[in-house]
Amino acid sequence: MRREEPCGELDVRRIYLVTGNKHKVHEINTLAEGSCIEFLQASATKLEVQSGSLGEIALTAARHAFDQIRAPLVVDDSGLFIESLGGFPGPYSSFVYKTIGISGILRLLEGESDRKACFVTAAALIIPPLERVFYGRTCGQITREPRGRGGFGFDPIFLPDGSRKTYAEMSTEEKNTVSHRARAFKKLISYLELLYYG
Ligand code: IMP
Repeated sequence: MRREEPCGELDVRRIYLVTGNKHKVHEINTLAEGSCIEFLQASATKLEVQSGSLGEIALTAARHAFDQIRAPLVVDDSGLFIESLGGFPGPYSSFVYKTIGISGILRLLEGESDRKACFVTAAALIIPPLERVFYGRTCGQITREPRGRGGFGFDPIFLPDGSRKTYAEMSTEEKNTVSHRARAFKKLISYLELLYYG
């Protein structure tokens, strides 16, 4: 169905992407088109780790998932770090999104002129005995109101530097040219291609 041409004679390598978020799977597989790597969505019981480090959270979750899945896999953990809030919500982004949400973040920033923020992804790959974490970071501004209907999470209020569109106003392909996740997964895909195909 896909990748026959770019991959040529080479076998497609399939890696499990352990997430309940179908938007992530779509973004990552759109990015991987043209490579010989394909990501298959998988689920595993989630381990909630209290840590200030996205890399540690992703790697601990990946090890926990590997105990269940026993096949090559990746766990992506991302966070939004808002400068004037001292990096909040950072590693707590998922909880903050589910509780106060976008409107809560906008309320916390009411009257604030410094709206700088960075999105960071830590993607933990496990192919025993190998364990590696790949990082991607994109900085920009938190808008004053939500814009756009695409994407997920905080996409409607994140305006990457150099762009006039929020993530939610972009197509998946556009988001992949600038996003934190795409930056992490470009490194991960290049690494896998080197590992598998030399
Ligand atoms: P997760 O735990 O890696 O899924 O990410 C934590 C939270 O950050 C999620 O609940 C999303 O709300 C948000 N998030 C992660 N990645 C993105 C993104 O690419 N765009 C917008 N929000 C995101």
